[in-house]
Amino acid sequence: MVVYLVGAGPGDPELITLKAVNALKKADVVVYDRLANEEILKHAEGAEFIYVGKKAGEHYKSQEEINQILVDEGKKHDVVVRLKGGDPFVFGRGGEEMLALLEEGIGVEFVPGVTSAIGVPTSAGLPVTHRGVATSFTIVTGHEDPTKSKKQVKWNFNADTIIILMGIGMLEENVKEIMKYKDPKTPVCVIEKGTLSDQRIITGTLEDITQNNIKPPALVIVGHVVDVFKKARS
Ligand SMILES: C[S@@+](CC[C@H](N)C(=O)[O-])C[C@H]1O[C@@H](n2cnc3c(N)ncnc32)[C@H](O)[C@@H]1O
Repeated sequence: MVVYLVGAGPGDPELITLKAVNALKKADVVVYDRLANEEILKHAEGAEFIYVGKKAGEHYKSQEEINQILVDEGKKHDVVVRLKGGDPFVFGRGGEEMLALLEEGIGVEFVPGVTSAIGVPTSAGLPVTHRGVATSFTIVTGHEDPTKSKKQVKWNFNADTIIILMGIGMLEENVKEIMKYKDPKTPVCVIEKGTLSDQRIITGTLEDITQNNIKPPALVIVGHVVDVFKKARS
């Protein structure tokens, strides 16, 4: 009775680790969500699959329901794989799942994944650090839990590169906040559906990036590393 919390990588099914493939091969059950590419499931031949992501027009599972499914399946089977997009501990709520399982005495193993925060820009040829340009980066959510009593995200980051996940719904508000601290002409790159065949890349600046019809899932990268990316492509 062990549950593997496994990162599925950012989208391209080849961007999964060997360790993740080995965990899938021995899985009795795979519990997966929307951002885990379904092609990866082929590695878990013979396993039972439980989808817990969002589906248009259907109720989707709350985190509490997902925790309960993991606990129930963990008690019933030898090997359960919880497959999550990117890395399970980067805005993946993997920590909550880990704690829920441990509380019930179920063993947990961890398999890191290529997080979209870095894997998506790297796959596109956008370095998140660059000598003389950026010595630090911050990864931040663009959509803080609205039920929180106090906002934790302050946009006055010192990092040279800001990488925003879940940042499309609130892009206008987020960009306005960043412009309080950074030049409105600071370059921005948005990568939609990174690493997938229908990937779309949009570049602009803080003051004009919202004028594009951007659709999630997408990543927003703010900083002069975007100039390095543009130079490489010119
Ligand atoms: C709930 S977070 C999960 C992040 C995940 N755990 C990771 O490490 O990549 C989902 C956000 O990740 C980003 N994301 C995930 N996959 C992406 C992709 N293929 N292209 C662009 N952004 C992606 C988007 O910002 C999306 O809103």
